[in-house]
Amino acid sequence: MTTESIIGVIGGTALTNIDQLRNVETLSIDTPYGRPSSDLTQGTINHQPFVFLVRHGIEHNIPPHLINYRANIWALREAGVSEIIAIATVGGITKMMAPGSLVVPDQLIDYSWGRAQTYFDEGFTLHNHIEFTHPYDQALRQRLLETAARCDLKIIDGAVMGVTQGPRLETAAEIERMKRDGCDLVGMTGMPEASLARELEIPYACLAVVVNWAAGVSRDDISMEGIEKVLREMEGGIGRILGGYR
Ligand code: HPA
Repeated sequence: MTTESIIGVIGGTALTNIDQLRNVETLSIDTPYGRPSSDLTQGTINHQPFVFLVRHGIEHNIPPHLINYRANIWALREAGVSEIIAIATVGGITKMMAPGSLVVPDQLIDYSWGRAQTYFDEGFTLHNHIEFTHPYDQALRQRLLETAARCDLKIIDGAVMGVTQGPRLETAAEIERMKRDGCDLVGMTGMPEASLARELEIPYACLAVVVNWAAGVSRDDISMEGIEKVLREMEGGIGRILGGYR
């Protein structure tokens, strides 16, 4: 990685600011699709440029289905990012995906609906059917995995992310169905983020942070206190990965 790369980071519930950023500047960017969820924060970590966007807004008041995904990805492109790391807080469905796990998914299934999901609403051509067999950029995934290994952090390579509409959590039957479909993880914001990045040809990978067992997987109900506790425990690991990323 050269220092010319600018790494875009979309922080979710799991990452609302990056403490290690230095030489910080705020970028206020408007787009043809409206305003992104937040101003962008530009800075460096160990001389590596980063641009940071808060997916749910600074006040965490934008629910998953109302996020302006098109404006967010467009604004990151305007800021010149060469790649995007999306931090996603998720529930674990399959056995390996216990709360406290860090995961780099390799596939997704989109169950969300009604979201503005393409830049090609107008002037559509045959070429606008983007190739999406592998929704996440393989080289970026690999760098995330290598960085975690360098930082002595356990990380799971590969998982199928199911993207639900939210903002409510799922029913146990919905999670059972998702499991039968092959989903390992469930989150609410992975789409259309990934496909919009692909439409703009920006390499995109997800760093998923498992904060609870999905509905019905464990006997206990899902509690926000439990989620917040895991989140607090995992913040350090996410910071270490970004600090060591190059
Ligand atoms: N379901 C959907 N999204 C989530 C969950 C969940 O259980 N946990 C964190 N984000």
